[in-house]
Amino acid sequence: MTEWWKRAIIYHIYPRSFMDASGDGIGDLQGIRQRLDYLQWLGIDAIWISPVYPSPMADFGYDVTDHCDIDPMFGSVADMDDLIAEAHRHSIKVILDFVPNHTSNEHPWFLESKSSRDNPKRDWYYWKDPKPDGSPPNNWLSRFDGKSAWKWDESTGQYYLHTFLEEQPDLNWRNPEVKEAMLDILRFWFRRGVDGFRVDVSYRVMKDAGFADNPINPDWKPGMDPSFRVTEQNTKNTADIHLFNRWIRETADEFEDKVTIGEMNLSLPQLARHYGSPNWPEFHLPFNFRLIFSAWEARNVGALITEFEATVPEHGWPNWVLSNHDQPRFGTRAGREQARNGYLFLLTVRGTPTIYYGDELGMQSVPVPQDKVQDPWELLSPGLGLGRDPVRTPMRWDAGPNAGFCPAGTEPWLPVGDDAVALNAEISKQDPASMLSMVKTLIRLRRTHEVLVSGSCTVLSSTGDVLQYRRGEPDSDSTMLVLLNFSPEEKSADLPADFQGSAEILLSTEMDGPHALRNSSVVLRPNEGLLLRRKR
Ligand code: GLC
Repeated sequence: MTEWWKRAIIYHIYPRSFMDASGDGIGDLQGIRQRLDYLQWLGIDAIWISPVYPSPMADFGYDVTDHCDIDPMFGSVADMDDLIAEAHRHSIKVILDFVPNHTSNEHPWFLESKSSRDNPKRDWYYWKDPKPDGSPPNNWLSRFDGKSAWKWDESTGQYYLHTFLEEQPDLNWRNPEVKEAMLDILRFWFRRGVDGFRVDVSYRVMKDAGFADNPINPDWKPGMDPSFRVTEQNTKNTADIHLFNRWIRETADEFEDKVTIGEMNLSLPQLARHYGSPNWPEFHLPFNFRLIFSAWEARNVGALITEFEATVPEHGWPNWVLSNHDQPRFGTRAGREQARNGYLFLLTVRGTPTIYYGDELGMQSVPVPQDKVQDPWELLSPGLGLGRDPVRTPMRWDAGPNAGFCPAGTEPWLPVGDDAVALNAEISKQDPASMLSMVKTLIRLRRTHEVLVSGSCTVLSSTGDVLQYRRGEPDSDSTMLVLLNFSPEEKSADLPADFQGSAEILLSTEMDGPHALRNSSVVLRPNEGLLLRRKR
């Protein structure tokens, strides 16, 4: 297995919140560069950086005005070149975010498109006439407020489509000029040494060509996300999305060793189709968000491993994600006590893991007071728990002012959180029992034990509160077991025959030295996870 992205541990950086070198309270590229030593120390292989392109920041960078430049807030193209070179010197690959579904409404393309009905770029976006009664062309809803996804443009007398904010008009990828212009952006960055792209909401890019209404969602109830009043049948994962996937992949394949990661929130069988086939390869890694959207319970996690192992096509490679910049942090969803188990799972299950910055410390979502709210989603749909600020708070580097994220006297764009003095990278580094020490140790074990990367992965049991899975083949010297206790009580678990009387603990999530093993069973402390191997 030679592909680097199969062996890699990806580390997701939300650039506004990682490290502020310029002193304006917002993270930047030079800040990331300053912290490469930490990332190398941790042992990760690649960073994925959320968008840093010029943007009015209506959606904090996911509204792009120029895909081939860097917003001055984050630095310059020269800073990016420098970051790529330095990261490579630290043996760290660089993955950028590609935002194909929409641009900013201030992008020169959209300004042209909007200027008149016969502008050559009119068709670069989706413009439609109103219905005879003046209402929007169909019932599609915007993700961020659940109101119509169509915005009326008075001056040209048509509506344009926006899946997200009205400041984020959707691009029409069925227009060959759009397709070429967008794919050229990938080429632009690949030539500068970027190692891959995470493709934003890739599964939404192709919509129903006939613009048919979405069926009403019979399960929707007040208090739920208002955009789910209709299903998304005609606005996501449509049949011809595989064409789009292929365009992305073909472009990456013009270069050597590049990775493409698609952002999609789909069931595992649906997601598996985004790998394409050996003759029609699509994404290397279609993001697997199942653990973000389902319960952290032994039975459920076991079922997901088994299902994913059965659905990933032979030419494909699994991947797992626990947290990202859009959803509550894992340690908050699953509970602080289970945070370590989550990361033991992520770093020992088969597939490429993506670590969200700060999760390695055990960071929780940080409450953000109403008067400090920044996220447009929270501002447009308040009180539904959809706001993303709490998961985007600054990385904690040390116990100093602003947790070392920005200089004293500068207000960070989001609060660092009250517990930053006690929970930060510097303190965690010095504590051999910290979650950071555990994550670092697991990364090292993954690097030194090939079975954790390429060995098979089989669930042995997931009844009650204990999940037990095996890496590698039974009776082989290299085989390992992972046991996770999902409960706050002590639990005992039987070991498989080849481990009975010959099991040795490689790591406990408690990070506290040797721990008694009985002959045929093992006792897990409350919320404890164990990595076992056979005694040599
Ligand atoms: C993706 C991004 C999210 C963004 C949205 C619109 O879901 O992860 O942060 O708001 O796309 O671009």
